[in-house]
Amino acid sequence: FGDGPLRGMRVLVSAGPTFEDIDPVRYLGNRSSGRMGYAVAAAAAAAGAEVCLVSGPVCLEKPVGVARRVDVRSAQQMLDAVLTEAPRSDIYIAAAAVGDYRPRAPAEHKMKKSDGQPLTLELTENPDILSTVAALAHPPFLVGFAAETRDVEAYARGKLERKKLDLIAANQVGVGMGFETEDNALTLIGPESSEKLPRCDKRELAQALIARIAAQFHARRNP
Ligand code: C5P
Repeated sequence: FGDGPLRGMRVLVSAGPTFEDIDPVRYLGNRSSGRMGYAVAAAAAAAGAEVCLVSGPVCLEKPVGVARRVDVRSAQQMLDAVLTEAPRSDIYIAAAAVGDYRPRAPAEHKMKKSDGQPLTLELTENPDILSTVAALAHPPFLVGFAAETRDVEAYARGKLERKKLDLIAANQVGVGMGFETEDNALTLIGPESSEKLPRCDKRELAQALIARIAAQFHARRNP
């Protein structure tokens, strides 16, 4: 592994959407392309870390330098993979857009239309992956993302505290912003800090984000 501010560190990144199956041919998903998380994984590897990337279903190749990619589909599968890797990770960066709910009882066979009648899908809440990792005896340094359409900083700060994170990267999403785009802007919020990383290419933004994460990680280790 290369030289850089994360030399010798193990970094776990989760990225992409989760798909929650309704029946064998349909699912509930979201609009995450995985590009931000993949850029973060690539930037961590370029900073010298040994990177494990847990990925939901995306159309992206494993970035150069990333040691391992574990493919998952549902939130539950992502949780299992993350819980396997987290205890041996120094830093966990949760960039996945995890589905909040899943169908309570996926149908075994393809569901049929019911003659113009409304269809009701019963949903169950998914586990919160970050909060589960935060509750481990020795959690890694935890970085979350918060994609919001309004009141970005206030909601992000709430998540930082509720999920017991070390840092949260907040961004505004909506029409033409954040999702499915090549560039993005972030506000990086810590317990006592807030810093704007201006809009740029997701690759450059990921490099800036990794530089800040490395600085804060080392500052916490050697105060
Ligand atoms: O969905 P939400 O805005 O709460 O996501 C904030 C952060 O929490 C993100 O980093 C996301 O990856 C993470 N998350 C999670 N498990 C969930 C939902 C979100 O780890 N079930």
